[in-house]
Amino acid sequence: MTIEVRLADVSRSIRKKKCCRKTSGKTKRYLPYMRPVSYRLQRLYLSCLDVFKGVGTVPSPSDVQKLCSILDGMMAEDVGLSRNLQFFKTKSTTGGEIPKVACTNIYQSENFSLCIFFLPANAVIPLHNHPGMTVFSKLLLGKVHVKAYDLVTDDNSDDSSSQLKLASLKADGVFTAPCDTSVLYPTSGGNIHAFTAITPCAILDVMGPPYSKKDGRDCSYYRDIPFDALPNERAVMTGEESKRYWWLEEIDAPKESEMEGIEYMGPQIIERSTL
Ligand SMILES: [Fe+2]
Repeated sequence: MTIEVRLADVSRSIRKKKCCRKTSGKTKRYLPYMRPVSYRLQRLYLSCLDVFKGVGTVPSPSDVQKLCSILDGMMAEDVGLSRNLQFFKTKSTTGGEIPKVACTNIYQSENFSLCIFFLPANAVIPLHNHPGMTVFSKLLLGKVHVKAYDLVTDDNSDDSSSQLKLASLKADGVFTAPCDTSVLYPTSGGNIHAFTAITPCAILDVMGPPYSKKDGRDCSYYRDIPFDALPNERAVMTGEESKRYWWLEEIDAPKESEMEGIEYMGPQIIERSTL
């Protein structure tokens, strides 16, 4: 069974409830079908409209707090998902192949996007960056390992053309839903990160601005190399200190970065122009 089918199943079950109502013992049917609205998702969308004003926008601390408080309260049901879906009950996959990640776009404009990533158990979103972007990630369901780095700016570096960048480890741990929203910024908060699903997961991402190749915000991929594994002349770090630092080498997009795009069928967003 594919994820499309599972999402469609969720939507159909909601659709049934919304389209039918018992009146005097009889069932009335309402046509045409209108997808339900989630108060929290709608609030998130309206707040994002106010916060993300285009390229260069880095949300203020109060705006970050506002979006985090909305996202912290969001549940899988707000985007049409349920923990009872077979997808989230699957313990592990068989065979040696790494399962593919799927994603669905809830909303996208030039200023921000809302999307969900679906990771089967053992699936990987490889180490990647978010150039000039602020990203809020809310784990809706499942358990995931996250590793995140920030590049270390070294103005004295004479090898800026090098493919190897010094990075500082910002996160290396397991997150289990429900948990608080995490936030990364253009140059801090773990802008370069990787996910490995321990159980099937759903992650809701708010990205402002979204990736855009034509605007110079393409996604780059990396592999991480322990600091001690390579000789270096410009810094002397030993022991515990060196464990915080890694080398990141830019690589071609790995096979695991390919995702399956699926249609979003959860609660709809009512765009402001139509309100
Ligand atoms: Fe990411």
